[in-house]
Amino acid sequence: MKMQSSDFEAILCQARDFAAKAESAESLQEFTVSLIAEKLPHYNWVGFYMLDPADPQMLVLGPFRGAATPHVRIPVTQGICGAAVAQEQTVVVDDVASDPRYLACSLETRSEIVVPIRAGGKVVGEIDIDSHAQAAFGSEDRSFLEECAAVIGTYIESSEAKRSSRPMSDG
Ligand code: SME
Repeated sequence: MKMQSSDFEAILCQARDFAAKAESAESLQEFTVSLIAEKLPHYNWVGFYMLDPADPQMLVLGPFRGAATPHVRIPVTQGICGAAVAQEQTVVVDDVASDPRYLACSLETRSEIVVPIRAGGKVVGEIDIDSHAQAAFGSEDRSFLEECAAVIGTYIESSEAKRSSRPMSDG
């Protein structure tokens, strides 16, 4: 399915508008997965994995759309998801069957893209997309998803900055 760059831009505009008034990173992630799943139905699984603050070597499943996955916690040493964090860069797999790192969620998945989310210069999580088509993700999908990751990362960064500048309360 060929998307126009204006389709991607429209989604990004809505995500940025929502981010400007979102009450939490989780509500922004919920909004983003639901918007992407609705507008880009060939993105068959759309979800977030975030690093566990209590165990930064572990990714934890966040808001998602698509089939239920057994992979609710993924060590950063495992899977395509772990590879994107370990390498601190986007990983695109055109044919998951030929990639030994791949952890299966659905038998129908043929290709996958995982894009890290950065806040304060560090990777804090990622967006993971699966498709039932082989080699579904090209350079435009990659740029679009990297922009989405930047919207979430910027939101997290500014909410952390607000939290650390807030005066300590008495309890
Ligand atoms: N395929 C991923 C695991 C996550 S599920 O696809 C939702 C991986 O290889 O890390």
